[in-house]
Amino acid sequence: MAERTYDAELEQETNRWMWWGLAIMAIMVAIFPLYRIYEPSARADARDLQEASLVEQGGAIYSLNCASCHGQDGEGGLGPALNSQQFLTAAVDRQVSGLIAVGVPGTQMGAYSLDFGGPFTSEQIEAITTFLRAWEEDAPDVENWRDPLGLGGG
Ligand code: HEC
Repeated sequence: MAERTYDAELEQETNRWMWWGLAIMAIMVAIFPLYRIYEPSARADARDLQEASLVEQGGAIYSLNCASCHGQDGEGGLGPALNSQQFLTAAVDRQVSGLIAVGVPGTQMGAYSLDFGGPFTSEQIEAITTFLRAWEEDAPDVENWRDPLGLGGG
């Protein structure tokens, strides 16, 4: 007799837990579509934020290390005009990062990657590239972009 009472209690207890489990599962099933709706926009926001921070970081590096030859706004000088449509449409990000990392041997354009004896990590070079890429939206058409000052020499 006593045993049976115990079983009944246990069963009741088990049922209660089972109902809780089902209720929680139902809530999760209901929430999941909402998550699917909001998550991509949360991710896009995070991406925008990260890009903005890369642009800012890259801009600071650019001003101190590149502007003397490429111009404060990328208009060029001793070096090519990096804000030009010509440059920005010709080179994808990986090429730009590669050029900055390795430099152009035999010219004033040095190597900037730590791997090639330069001062910057690949994250810093990515930041510079992101900064340059942000010019693309309203990049001017600069026919003589490789030699904006007409210095000749190649
Ligand atoms: C001392 C001057 C000088 C400095 C400083 C300099 N550059 Fe250059 N850069 C040049 C010259 C000159 C060239 C052109 C090389 C050639 O003849 O192909 C060049 C070429 C480039 C190119 C390739 C353009 C192309 O497609 O031909 C990129 C990209 C570039 N520089 C980015 C940078 C960045 C980013 C920095 C700063 C981290 C920097 N440069 C610092 C002088 C400089």
